[in-house]
Amino acid sequence: MTHISERRTATTRTVTPAPWTPGETIDFGACRSIAVTCVSEIGWADNRDMLQDISAGGGVTASQWRIPWREANARGSCSLLEVEGLDGARRRLLIDAGWSRDYMRERLAATGVAERVAAGEVEALFLTHEHIDHLFGLQAVLELKPDITIYIPSTFHAEAERLIAGADFPEAHAANAVPHTGEVVRLEPGGVHPLMPGLAAVGFDLPIMLGIAGEQSLYANLEREGLVALTGCGHHGFERIAAFAAERLARGDKLHGLYGGLHLAPFGALTSEQADRVRDMGRYGFKRIACNHCTGLAAVELMVELGYPVARGTGRDGSISDLYVGNGDSVTFG
Ligand SMILES: [Fe+2]
Ligand SMILES: [Fe+2]
Repeated sequence: MTHISERRTATTRTVTPAPWTPGETIDFGACRSIAVTCVSEIGWADNRDMLQDISAGGGVTASQWRIPWREANARGSCSLLEVEGLDGARRRLLIDAGWSRDYMRERLAATGVAERVAAGEVEALFLTHEHIDHLFGLQAVLELKPDITIYIPSTFHAEAERLIAGADFPEAHAANAVPHTGEVVRLEPGGVHPLMPGLAAVGFDLPIMLGIAGEQSLYANLEREGLVALTGCGHHGFERIAAFAAERLARGDKLHGLYGGLHLAPFGALTSEQADRVRDMGRYGFKRIACNHCTGLAAVELMVELGYPVARGTGRDGSISDLYVGNGDSVTFG
C-alpha cells in the first residue's frame, strides 16, 4: 500500500525542449571548467545478489517497484557537479540520489557534499532516471534540503513522483519520509534544455530494464575544450550521446570527454559484443574518459589496455579499483 503525504506543498512544471530546426545546432553558451566529485558510484554491493533479486522478482522486464530488493545490497550512484562560469562564479548540481538512505547519508557526509547541500550551495538535484540505485536514496538528500529543486525526465512513472512527494513502497523496500517541498521540473525528452550558461540537459526516451522509460544526460560546453557529456547509467549508450551532440549541439561534432556510467559491462564479465563497443569507442577520439558505476571494471580494463585516456581514481571507500574515478574521487575538465 502506498500513500501520499498530506504535507505536500511542492509545485510541478513541465518544460518542453528548446526549438530546433533540422540542419541547425543549438548554442547553450559556455563555461570555463567543470569539476565532478563522486559521492558514490557503486550501485549495489554484490552483483550475484542483485541478479538473484532481479530473477526472483520476475526478470529484467519486471517493474522495479514490485521487486523485494534486499536492502543490505543497496548502495547508490550520486555525484556533485560544479560548473565554473566564464565570470568565475560557481554553480552546483547534484546528479542522482543513490539507493540506500543510510549509505547515502554516510557518503554525502564523508565527501563534504552534505554540508554544501544543507547550506543551499547546490541549486538543484538532477535525476537522470528512475532506477533504484539513482532514486531510492532521495530521502537522504531531502533531509538536508527538503525544498531543493528537482529535475526529472517527464517520463517518470507515477510511483517515482509519489516517492518524491513522500510515499512508501514497502514491496520494493523504498520509502521517503521527507516530502519534497520545492519545485519539480519535468523535462520532456527529445531535445535540449539549457540549464545555465554552458550546461544543458537532454532526455532520451527509450525503454530501460526493470520497466523504466527514459534517461537524461547533461552536456557541458567548455570554452576551450568543447563538450563533455555526463551520465547516470548511460543506458542510451555513448554512441547515441555522441550522435545527438553531432546533430543538435554547437561544437558537437566531437565530444571532448565523458563522465559517469557507460553501461558497458554492468554485471561483471565483458561479452564479445560489449568488448566490440569498447573497441569502437576509439574512433570517437575522447580526450578524457571519467567513467565509473555501471561501466564495469572489465570494460575499463579493456579501455586502459587500448590506451584510452581514462581518468584514474584511488579505489577507496567501497570502489573496487583505482583504474577509474570512484567514491570520494574528483575529476576536473577544463
Ligand atoms: Fe545505475
Ligand atoms: Fe540505470
